Amino acid sequence: MGIVKVLDHPLIQHKLTFIRDKNTGSKEFRELVEEVALLLTYEITRDLPLEDVEIETPVCKAKTKALSGKKIGVIPILRAGLGMVGGILKLIPAAKVGHIGVYRDPETLQPVEYYCKTPTDIAERDLIVVDPMLATGGSANASIKFLKERGAQNIKLMCLIAAPEGIEAVQKVHPDVDIYVAAVDEKLNEHGYIVPGLGDAGDRLFGTK
Ligand code: PRP
Ligand code: URA
Repeated sequence: MGIVKVLDHPLIQHKLTFIRDKNTGSKEFRELVEEVALLLTYEITRDLPLEDVEIETPVCKAKTKALSGKKIGVIPILRAGLGMVGGILKLIPAAKVGHIGVYRDPETLQPVEYYCKTPTDIAERDLIVVDPMLATGGSANASIKFLKERGAQNIKLMCLIAAPEGIEAVQKVHPDVDIYVAAVDEKLNEHGYIVPGLGDAGDRLFGTK
């Protein structure tokens, strides 16, 4: 079974409070989502392999460590996942970015795929699927399934807020996927929104209704 890691660092929790606040406008909301994504990236990349390198400091020769060149792919689930990409790329600028368009039908809450463009070598990459919200888990499950069908072997899921129902759904269908979240909230309401959550992540990021 994949792990569920709740990243309760004080900076993340503080920023999440402002993200949740309905009085936070789109500009600040976007900036905060990017910042929290960056902080989550710090933890999700903790097990990246290192190799020994030799360099010369201004003082002497030194044996130090560098990333061993593990290939990473970042896969935002459109639209709201886009809001997290900038923060992730600040820490891992060499990552390739693929996009999966999935929206949740508001009546049935079922995921509908409308776009998919991923790096051709996803089978060799460590993939980080990103979406601020893990509600029923339908969108994440469908996206992970599409990636596996295209050869993906190694997938982690990074979200800001998850409902217990969403975590359970992903663990049931994709037990190989580790989940990293900033918070696990109480429940889903009758419209499939996370309670207390932050509302509609895509609308708040892009100023739509
Ligand atoms: C939101 C969110 C997730 C999905 C979560 O996207 O960004 O992708 O809902 O819900 P689920 O876990 O029940 O599938 P939405 O469908 O609103 O699309 P958008 O990002 O284009 O606004
Ligand atoms: N999608 C969102 O944007 N917010 C929720 O609370 C649930 C799904």
